[in-house]
Amino acid sequence: MKVAIFGAGTMGSGIAQVFAAKGHVAMMYASSVASAQRHRDKLAASLNKRVAKGKMTQEAADDLMSRVVVEEFDAAADADLVIECVAENMAVKKELLGRLDAICKESAIFASNTSSLSITEMANGLNHQLVGMHFFNPVPAMKLVEVIAGANTPAELVEFTKNLSIEIGKTPVVVNEAPGFVVNKILVPYCNEGVCVLQEGVASAEDIDIAMQLGANHPMGPLHLGDLIGWDVVLSIMDVLYHETGDSKYRANVLIRKMVRAGKLGIKSGEGFFNYKK
Ligand code: 3HC
Repeated sequence: MKVAIFGAGTMGSGIAQVFAAKGHVAMMYASSVASAQRHRDKLAASLNKRVAKGKMTQEAADDLMSRVVVEEFDAAADADLVIECVAENMAVKKELLGRLDAICKESAIFASNTSSLSITEMANGLNHQLVGMHFFNPVPAMKLVEVIAGANTPAELVEFTKNLSIEIGKTPVVVNEAPGFVVNKILVPYCNEGVCVLQEGVASAEDIDIAMQLGANHPMGPLHLGDLIGWDVVLSIMDVLYHETGDSKYRANVLIRKMVRAGKLGIKSGEGFFNYKK
């Protein structure tokens, strides 16, 4: 299968990796061909690190990368599956999907890796059918895919997406459309609450994370987790939860907004509540 992945950041690169690992051609798209090429190089470098650690053979890494390709926009016309993982903004996603709708073959399936937005609204006006296919960070390590049915997503497409998720080594759960679906509706307010506890001076960032790791057996505490997800992503999901429900329990902590404005997004920017600069 030829899979065109739009958005080559943390999620898009991870999604390209898992599809290519299972024999599919993963076409990486970013804001420009040069930018997609840079993301492809980063992916190759991360596989090389796995090779160096003895977690993967050089042959497997080379074989995988031979199926990760960077193409011009028009080459997506030939894709069997398009997965969008661009900015978590409905207007941006709709603009891209509209352009793809005009060029992609009729049988192409559209999927969105949105972390919180409405699949129904995203599909509105498209000739192609759209389903939610929500991966988790880091994509190669996280087993879950939330398969999200919008109001007009056919049952056969949901079934196809479930089977495809299994085929690429993931465990799917089918969820109905709702802001944040299942995981982010629970997990993102958890990160927000971690920031509230910090802001109230209850404990230091380090101790909040140690408390949740050792007291609740979580693999990482809420502040490190937000650093992994990216505070810009956490903020946009909190804002969607708040605006869609009108419920004040989903109000983003002002410290998160300040962090985002300061460019302290977490691991990807080198600094969040913890420092990742080498
Ligand atoms: N490529 C391939 N494999 C990877 C990888 C990558 N980029 N990153 C990690 N892995 C693999 C490791 O190689 C290892 O498997 P192996 O031993 O078979 O090779 C396994 O994952 C565990 O990794 P590590 O031993 O390096 O590290 P840890 O044991 O500390 O685990 C973690 C790291 C998996 C990130 C763990 O801390 C964790 O599960 N954290 C929680 C992550 C989480 O909750 N993610 C969800 C965020 S919400 C989200 O993504 C939704 C979005 O919409 C916002």
